[in-house]
This record gives sequence, C-alpha cells and structure tokens, in this order.
Amino acid sequence: MTGFLKNRAPLDAQLLESELRLRQCLWQNVIVKDEVTSTNDIAKDLVNSGVEEGTFVIANFQSQGRGRQNRNWQAPKNSSIFISIILKPRSVNNIGWVPLLIGLCLYKTIESESRKNIKIKWPNDLVQIENKQEFKFAGILLEKHNEHVVAGIGINFDQDKNELPIELATSLKEIFENPISKESVIAAFVSELSARWQEENNAQTSPTASFMRDYKANCVTINKEIIAQIPGGEVVKALAIDISATGELIVKTDSGNRFLSSADIHLIS
Ligand code: BTN
Repeated sequence: MTGFLKNRAPLDAQLLESELRLRQCLWQNVIVKDEVTSTNDIAKDLVNSGVEEGTFVIANFQSQGRGRQNRNWQAPKNSSIFISIILKPRSVNNIGWVPLLIGLCLYKTIESESRKNIKIKWPNDLVQIENKQEFKFAGILLEKHNEHVVAGIGINFDQDKNELPIELATSLKEIFENPISKESVIAAFVSELSARWQEENNAQTSPTASFMRDYKANCVTINKEIIAQIPGGEVVKALAIDISATGELIVKTDSGNRFLSSADIHLIS
C-alpha cells in the first residue's frame, strides 16, 4: 500500500483494480503508466483509438504536465496523483457544468476523510481554508478532443512543503485524518464520479438542480469579495454572487453584474 507512512512507491495497478472492483465502480478500464509527457496526451491518443467512455490513465510522473491558463503542473515522481479520464458529454457544446461536477466529486471523496476545512474554489480548485487563507491541493484541467472531453486531475498526495510549487499549497497528507493509499483515493474518486456522471449526463437537463445546490453549498467563492484575473489580463474586483447553469461565476461589480467563464480567483473577504 502506498500510504503516507511508506516510502514513496509507484502506483500498484493490481491493488487499484481490486479497489475498483470492490467498490463496483462503473469505470474499471484503467491504464497505469510510469512516466508520460502528460496523462491528457495519452488520454487523447486513446480517444483517437476509440476506447470506451470512462477509460482513465494514471501516471507516476509527468514531464510536461500542464495546468489551467498554460501553467505547468509538476511534482516529484510518485508524490502526486495524475489522472485523466475520458468523458463523452451528451452535448459537447454544453459542458460548463462538467468541471463543476468533477470538482464536487473530488471534494466529496476528500471531505469524508478530512480533518481540515476544505472547500471547492470556483471553478474546480480544491483548497484547504485556514486563517482566511486558501491552500490549494488539487486542480482540474478540461480539454475538448473531438466529441470527447479529457478531464485531467492533479492531486497533491504526499509532497512536503518544500516540494510544492507555491507557498499557498498543501497535500493530502496534511489534510487526511489517517494514512490512506493513493489507490483507494483514486478508486473512491472515480467511483463517485462514474455514478454522478451517469446521472448528470443522462438527465433531461444538465446540470440538475440538486447537483448545483450541492456544488454551491460547498463552494467557498460565493458571497465573497474577490479579485478575478481574467485570461488576457483584465482584473476585476467584485462580489461573487452565484453560479449560472452553464457554470459561469456571476459577479456584482460597480458597473453591473458580469458572468465570468474563466478566471483565476483570489478571495479577499
Ligand atoms: C490547474 O491548473 O489547477 C489544473 C491542473 C491539472 C493537472 C492535471 S495532472 C493530470 C492531467 N495531466 C496534465 O498535464 N494536467 C492534468
């Protein structure tokens, strides 16, 4: 078991497969790699070769891992969870809710084992809140590929403080009550997502009201004064008031309400 108390070990593919079976996960088709450029690259190749929805790729190391807004996403070998899942939304033109759903499922997985105050920061960063500061421990990058979406998820697992890319970051070993293996975190998350995905993607209208209620209840951004850095350089100071059905953050500014579809958010109150 690659838990916090052990030396860092590569992912145990057999253990992961048995955890997925134990949980009767709807998605069992997992591909484990040692080193890749980015798990999203491998997932896109798999889309091209016609694999089934829910197939997912995991790697112990990424040499060219990428984050949102063209940033890098890197971690020492075996210290982190890198996972990319192939999804086929019913309509590839209505996917604003997809990152929110993935963020919510990751939140549910981690929250049930957490001894800290954790939240989702719009759209889908996972943060631990302490002394009014946010420490990020997971992020999600969605990339469209043909009629599919590749959902890339990066979770800091057992990095030490000095191995984290920014000051305001943390890893699961600081958050969990008890040591838990990478394999069971992954199996729990993929099981949660596979079940919620079937529900949402097959619903008459996505997103469903109950999912949006659940997301908003656990999103730290709503009702906060924020600074939003919008791709292209614009900076907006506003009050975050709601999330739209298409996943935008609705903010109130001095010149009226705006709908933000993509931004880096800094909470200021
Ligand atoms: C973010 O900037 O918050 C999103 C980070 C997403 C990182 C993950 S790690 C697995 C997948 N492969 C990548 O190259 N990126 C995503």
